[in-house]
Amino acid sequence: MKNSEIKIEAIEFAIDGVAVLGPLSANFIEKRISIIGRNGSGKSTLARLMSGLITPTRGQVHINDIDIAKDRKAALKTVGILFQNPDHQIIFPTVGEEIAFGLRQLGYSKSDVEDKLRAILEQFAKQDWYNRNVMTFSQGQRQLICLMSVLAMEPKVLILDEPFSGLDIPTTRALREILDNLDQTIIHITHDPAVATNADRVIWIDEGLIVKDGHPSDVLAPFMAAMEQVNVL
Ligand SMILES: Nc1ncnc2c1ncn2[C@@H]1O[C@H](COP(=O)(O)OP(=O)(O)OP(=O)(O)O)[C@@H](O)[C@H]1O
Ligand SMILES: [Mg+2]
Repeated sequence: MKNSEIKIEAIEFAIDGVAVLGPLSANFIEKRISIIGRNGSGKSTLARLMSGLITPTRGQVHINDIDIAKDRKAALKTVGILFQNPDHQIIFPTVGEEIAFGLRQLGYSKSDVEDKLRAILEQFAKQDWYNRNVMTFSQGQRQLICLMSVLAMEPKVLILDEPFSGLDIPTTRALREILDNLDQTIIHITHDPAVATNADRVIWIDEGLIVKDGHPSDVLAPFMAAMEQVNVL
């Protein structure tokens, strides 16, 4: 698969006239990108802007020359996002319906939806989840349901907002292995620098702006040093 090209051009995001993020610009062509930063630094806001769920107040995001905020149909095929909180993502009562929804949006036939749905459940050895009610699962399990829904859609760019936060050690290991083997671009949002060490590129953001952008060996040490200096209380 050809590397996807992500162009963030001077985006700004404000709520009721109050700046939350930006101005921020960056171009990526790498396959493994980590976005790191403290709580409230703007990581999830940036993820939502990159996936087109929210529209920048100024500036644009293009992925493979698609304007992500304007061309929603093309955007849906191009970029998938896993939310930080699974309960903001899930809309259907059963696991099967939830995963099928995204696939139906992409215009797949009924039988293709069924095939892709069964394949993703099989990949995670969760075939028996098909008819189960989503609300009977734990938070970590619901996160896995969301992740399966996004992976089933096979977007060219996957944005994962703290994907490991609710998962146990074996599930994290299994997921990490699956992600490592994916040919897609993965933008991994995390506040954990250990997770970012294997990225091709790390972008550190704070107060909605880029502090440092480069190879993990150049970004993570200063990030750690800065975090040591912060007093929260
Ligand atoms: N809809 C909103 N209304 C008001 N403020 C918002 C909204 N969305 C984001 N913000 C503000 O923007 C800032 C960045 O929030 P964001 O959720 O992007 O941070 P984050 O880096 O993902 O944090 P965390 O690590 O805690 O998930 C915060 O100060 C937040 O209060
Ligand atoms: Mg967040």
